Amino acid sequence: MTDKCSPIGFFDSGVGGISVLKTAFNLMPNENYIYYGDSKNAPYGQKSEEEIKQLSLDAGKVLFGYGVKAIVMACNTATSAAVKIMRQRYNIPVISMEPAVKPALEVEGKVVVLATPATVSQNRYNGLLQRLSAGDKVINIGCSGLVELIEDGHTDADTISRYLDGRLTVLGNEKIGAVVLGCTHYSFVEKTIAKYMKANYNEGCKIFDGKQGTANQLLHILQNKGMICMQTPSRIEFATSGDPNNIQKYQELFESF
Ligand code: DGL
Repeated sequence: MTDKCSPIGFFDSGVGGISVLKTAFNLMPNENYIYYGDSKNAPYGQKSEEEIKQLSLDAGKVLFGYGVKAIVMACNTATSAAVKIMRQRYNIPVISMEPAVKPALEVEGKVVVLATPATVSQNRYNGLLQRLSAGDKVINIGCSGLVELIEDGHTDADTISRYLDGRLTVLGNEKIGAVVLGCTHYSFVEKTIAKYMKANYNEGCKIFDGKQGTANQLLHILQNKGMICMQTPSRIEFATSGDPNNIQKYQELFESF
């Protein structure tokens, strides 16, 4: 049985979802949290939809074992492939995330969505673009290799700028109004991406991502269900499927983000 102060479970393929966890913690500091990073299986973004579904169900099972009152899929890739089956399988609120394309469409100029190859190829994401009538205003870029750089801690400006040099040549002389960070890992290099876009494309380029929206949605659902916890101090626990040294890395990233 869960109660108001049962933990909220977050998962991602690795460190990315820690950016969402921190955003939720800033909004709800009196909740208890358990974060599960499936680093052994990262990256999700280069796997098939079926594999990502299975990995998401497995991660849900791990979190369920901690007696969580809600699950946050802090991963756009996992959401795209598996949110439906997660909601069928787990009888608690499952909060998900998707690339924040909607607000970005308000901006003048093209919208570049940086996400994993799996996210941009999946039906769920393409259905979102259709519902928003995004047409050719959106340019999707599947960023293979970027998650690996971030997982391995290669987040310095030179490395990330070199990566972007190689990946963004397709943009040519387009007027870019906004970039959507469609993968939670990319929040750890947001400043470099923003600086790069301003220097190379448009001084006014705006950056969007879904983490605040996801945290707000979590709060809204817990309020509606009368499931808000007001514990002081609250607990944050980290778990991983990979190297146990990840736990310390996760903690440090959480504190410094
Ligand atoms: N952080 C995940 C996301 O938001 C993807 C990471 C991966 O490819 O494993 O899509």
